[in-house]
Amino acid sequence: MSRRAQSKRALRVAAAASWICAAFVAGSGAAAEPASVAVGAAVYNRWCVHCHSPGRGNPGTESLQVKYAGKLPAVLLDRSDLAPEVVARFVRTGVLSMPPFRKTEITDAELAAVAAYITQKYQKP
Ligand code: HEC
Repeated sequence: MSRRAQSKRALRVAAAASWICAAFVAGSGAAAEPASVAVGAAVYNRWCVHCHSPGRGNPGTESLQVKYAGKLPAVLLDRSDLAPEVVARFVRTGVLSMPPFRKTEITDAELAAVAAYITQKYQKP
């Protein structure tokens, strides 16, 4: 490998490593950094928003409205009871009409970021 290709590769590896670190920090419940919030928002907008946004016609929101009958918010982003690890479990297993998401679709780092994004209002009991 040429020197130039080698240093390019090193740069790419460093960039990937710092990105994964940011997602990991967010997943561990520390104050989410702007960068990982942006990653979490991007994952949410790509894979979740069309079922979980507010209002009628959104299968996730409508289903959670029925499930909790108003005792908890039907919109995921309004929940303060959902822990990041609970979100992660639902994403990997799926529930009712929500499909399970594979690591080829949402990587572990992306999952940590989206869970941190969704649980910004989370309050530990
Ligand atoms: C095809 C529509 C659809 C998509 C896409 C979808 N969901 Fe869901 N989601 C649902 C439905 C339906 C439920 C089940 C609600 C129920 O149990 O009544 C659900 C439930 C959940 C729950 C459980 C909430 C609870 O209190 O039971 C979580 C957490 C969740 N979804 C997160 C996500 C995340 C994060 C994404 C994106 C990665 C996502 N969902 C994508 C439809 C969807």
